[in-house]
Amino acid sequence: MIIGVPKEIKNNESRVGMTPAGIYELVKNNHTVYVQSTAGEGSGFFDEDYIEAGATILATIEEVYLSSDMIVKVKEPIEPEYHLIQKGQVIFTYFHFASSEKLTRAMIARGAICIAYETVEDEDGSLPLLTPMSEVAGRMAIQQGAKYLEKPEKGRGVLLGGVPGVPPGKVLVLGAGIVGTQAAKMAAGLGAHVTILDINMKRLRYINDVMPSHVVTEFSNEFNIRKHIKTHDLIIGGVLLKGAKAPNLITRDMLKSMRPGTVIVDVAVDQGGCVETTRPTTHEDPVYIIDDVVHYSVANMPGAVPYTSTMALTNVTLPYILALANKGWFKACEDDLSLHKGLNIIEGEVAYKEIIETFQWDTALA
Ligand SMILES: NC(=O)c1ccc[n+]([C@@H]2O[C@H](COP(=O)([O-])OP(=O)(O)OC[C@H]3O[C@@H](n4cnc5c(N)ncnc54)[C@H](O)[C@@H]3O)[C@@H](O)[C@H]2O)c1
Repeated sequence: MIIGVPKEIKNNESRVGMTPAGIYELVKNNHTVYVQSTAGEGSGFFDEDYIEAGATILATIEEVYLSSDMIVKVKEPIEPEYHLIQKGQVIFTYFHFASSEKLTRAMIARGAICIAYETVEDEDGSLPLLTPMSEVAGRMAIQQGAKYLEKPEKGRGVLLGGVPGVPPGKVLVLGAGIVGTQAAKMAAGLGAHVTILDINMKRLRYINDVMPSHVVTEFSNEFNIRKHIKTHDLIIGGVLLKGAKAPNLITRDMLKSMRPGTVIVDVAVDQGGCVETTRPTTHEDPVYIIDDVVHYSVANMPGAVPYTSTMALTNVTLPYILALANKGWFKACEDDLSLHKGLNIIEGEVAYKEIIETFQWDTALA
């Protein structure tokens, strides 16, 4: 199979769909890989690295799309890419179709086979190609939160780890899923006092088992949240209700009970946020202040650490890419139920019923 790796052209996206290590595996399996010149630079991989791994470098994005059977990338195709997509071409990337009817209609019209990272689903309901980005965002949340707690950033002026003779800062984590667990681990590593809340007792039991004793678990309810926000310096929002808007666990009126300079990092912003006052921000302008509370709510946190994010993503996508290349998309999806769930659009036909429900279309054939 001929596999193409174009350069991402979405604003501020520095990740790339494959690393040289992935190219090496594909070439070893007798496939041909075309990589667009400078596609990997933002993630620290240069054309020479790809050539050494066995790829051929093509100068333009047009050449990559025109000459490949399968395109592997990171973000959904944006408008200037729509016309490049070929009939019958496999596109393996994040799509998030439910958030864009325009993109969905464009992909239907192009007749491609769209396999979406975000809907590849394991038997236990976990989403293996989303997990690494939650891991990155959860860990990064503490790094960012620690920075915005500094006085020049309008934070309380608290050092999370404290120093001998001065108690550590306090971190409240809402949600003990992937984001919450990673955030708690990082905060605990810095020496902060951590309180983590969830409604899932299994998750709280797990956290209680694996974390050090300065990570305290509590059941999530309004009473406990109102109590803790008054005394915690940094609050991490990592709550998810699958397929729904995140619940507003912190409402506007609660901000007044927090101490000035408290920092909220609402990682759940991409699902609407779990704080009523959350609105999406960007890496260029990541924070805003309401009632003296600093809000950080960047919707694509992993984009700021493209080297780590690219490696984390490609570690988990590579086995699927290899299966798709070795067997062809039909057999690969037939053999692997997880990958089959990733099929969203097949040559003009919608294969993922949630898309039809979202747009309230009558039929899978648009
Ligand atoms: N901003 C970013 O760049 C970025 C990056 C990655 C993930 N995310 C988002 O972060 C969010 C969390 O992702 P995740 O992978 O950790 O999800 P997850 O499913 O692993 O964890 C969510 C947790 O929230 C818990 N929860 C549900 N209702 C709750 C409540 N009322 N109180 C406390 N906990 C509650 C669930 O029990 C679960 O343990 C998602 O919205 C995800 O899309 C954002």
